Amino acid sequence: MPSYVITGVSKGLGWEFLTQLSSDPNNIVIGIVRNKPATDKRVAEELAGRRNITILAADLTNYNSLKTAASDAGAVTGGKLDYLIANAGSVSQYDAYDDIGTLGTQDPEKFTKQFHEILDTNVVGQVHLYNLFMPQILAGDVKKVILISSGMGDIEITKDLDLAVAPIYATSKAAANMITAKFSAQYKKDGVLFLSICPGMVEVGHFNQMSPEQAEKLPEMIAKFQRYNPHFKGPITPPESIKAVLSLVERSSVENGDGGDYMSHFGTRRWI
Ligand SMILES: NC(=O)c1ccc[n+]([C@@H]2O[C@H](COP(=O)([O-])OP(=O)(O)OC[C@H]3O[C@@H](n4cnc5c(N)ncnc54)[C@H](OP(=O)(O)O)[C@@H]3O)[C@@H](O)[C@H]2O)c1
Repeated sequence: MPSYVITGVSKGLGWEFLTQLSSDPNNIVIGIVRNKPATDKRVAEELAGRRNITILAADLTNYNSLKTAASDAGAVTGGKLDYLIANAGSVSQYDAYDDIGTLGTQDPEKFTKQFHEILDTNVVGQVHLYNLFMPQILAGDVKKVILISSGMGDIEITKDLDLAVAPIYATSKAAANMITAKFSAQYKKDGVLFLSICPGMVEVGHFNQMSPEQAEKLPEMIAKFQRYNPHFKGPITPPESIKAVLSLVERSSVENGDGGDYMSHFGTRRWI
């Protein structure tokens, strides 16, 4: 029975991973969330009867909570984990529509605080997550660790589109790609695939959280994406995105030379 641990299954793409993977009763699916009672309730209401789901509590910024979750997951899987999907992340609204020059000067203290918080979650937290689950991954049969990254972390698209928005989020994803590549460099010899995948631009409600000032900046960003891909029609749905990501996870391997790579849900460096 393939086993999966997925972080951030409370909502958005994590919930979609949980839904799709647990639809196969042969899969053992463990979701890690910050608010366990709320997710237990949602599972009971929307995925009732799926006995292959276990929800555990942990925060990426709290090492001891991650350590406990890893130990509890091991008790469910018998200490052998096939797939770790590092999906949870801080999708910052703070910097989503602004450039680094403005944010860094208008309130430098706030900027510094936000930068540390986002990096703690999106970078340092992933390092601890990977290390804590490594013994179980090494004991597993499949040995795949997937970071849900973002095309925003790509220097090429930033340069080509002069994409000044989301400077902290983009930096955190670029750094997370690098730590994923470093883990690949260390563990490829043991047969472990570490891979960073961008799920595409997906509608999960982030645009509903925009302030009126932020909404004014959205058309410029959309125009840039349309310049990048003239067929771009807007965000895709979570089911479309996660189906593509899971298919890519299945066909990627150390043997194919995918270890440490960074790619979109298309399996390329085209992001939308
Ligand atoms: N949606 C997109 O278009 C898109 C595009 C590219 C990449 N991504 C990536 O896809 C992943 C999922 O994003 P999403 O769009 O589904 O966003 P989302 O709806 O905001 O979900 C983020 C998830 O991460 C969890 N999380 C945040 N901080 C955490 C922490 N410190 N410890 C543990 N869990 C934490 C959240 O838990 P709570 O419920 O407790 O807040 C939530 O479950 C992220 O890594 C994001 O960067 C998304």
